[in-house]
Amino acid sequence: MAAILATGIATLDIINEVASFPAEDDEVRAITQRISRGGNASNTLCVLSQLGHQSFLAATLIDEADVQLIEADLNHYQINTQFCPRLNEGKMPTSYITLNRQNGSRTIVHHRDCPELSFDAFRQIDLTQFDWLHFEGRNITELAKILEHCRQNSPNVPISLEIEKPRDSIESLFDMADWLFFSRAYAEAKGFRLSEDLFDAVCHAHSATCTWGAEGAYGWHNAQMIFCPATKIPKAVDSLGAGDTFNAGMIHSLLAKKSLNDSLQFASQLAARKCQQYGFENLVKSL
Ligand code: FRU
Repeated sequence: MAAILATGIATLDIINEVASFPAEDDEVRAITQRISRGGNASNTLCVLSQLGHQSFLAATLIDEADVQLIEADLNHYQINTQFCPRLNEGKMPTSYITLNRQNGSRTIVHHRDCPELSFDAFRQIDLTQFDWLHFEGRNITELAKILEHCRQNSPNVPISLEIEKPRDSIESLFDMADWLFFSRAYAEAKGFRLSEDLFDAVCHAHSATCTWGAEGAYGWHNAQMIFCPATKIPKAVDSLGAGDTFNAGMIHSLLAKKSLNDSLQFASQLAARKCQQYGFENLVKSL
């Protein structure tokens, strides 16, 4: 069992499941609605916690009504929130999600009025207790200071950085992480049609992964690429958080000193499993 700190956000997810994805200006009824905790870093921790790790979150929490559901769920998954600054003003980030019953796709409209975690808040954390540090690639100016601080104060603890979307200057952070977890959305937004092109262009000495949807996932280590075809599943019902689950699988396997190939396979299986069920409950039970 390892102690893992993940830095990013916790959100309120309002998930409407629809029979098929609506056209613009349509009016449709939701088949189901559920309201749950989300956010990439906290989703990743929710899976890591189920895999037996001690999970710590560093994310801003706002003292308003919606934080109760979020905190209750973090507690349910034994995610420690002692490093989460609590503010009185603002609103917990909220995502309005349309989940398509036909293929499990999730379309997200995200609203935020919540300050990002500051370097000043992060530097209060005693880093000596952690075996792995994971970061959402957001809040770039502060994150650059945070990563520099980690490198100076915890030089031997592995750092993973999730690069899900293009953001101004996010590339300036790459050298400060050991593992870069890219998404296909980032690769394509940057004009790369293949993971290999992305790795060739930006990874150099880094180790990296890039998920490529239903096709599979790619890994990059010692300037060599490995491809892991997607685990075949009968039907996807809920892909919300599948990427976050994949990242949890990678961290778990890499901490166990598994090879990149084995890690990709485990992470892909876990993500495939996530897509076949609603939410995260009992995700690892029968693995
Ligand atoms: C899924 C997710 C949701 C959240 C949104 C934030 O990856 O973390 O739980 O609402 O993305 O971007």
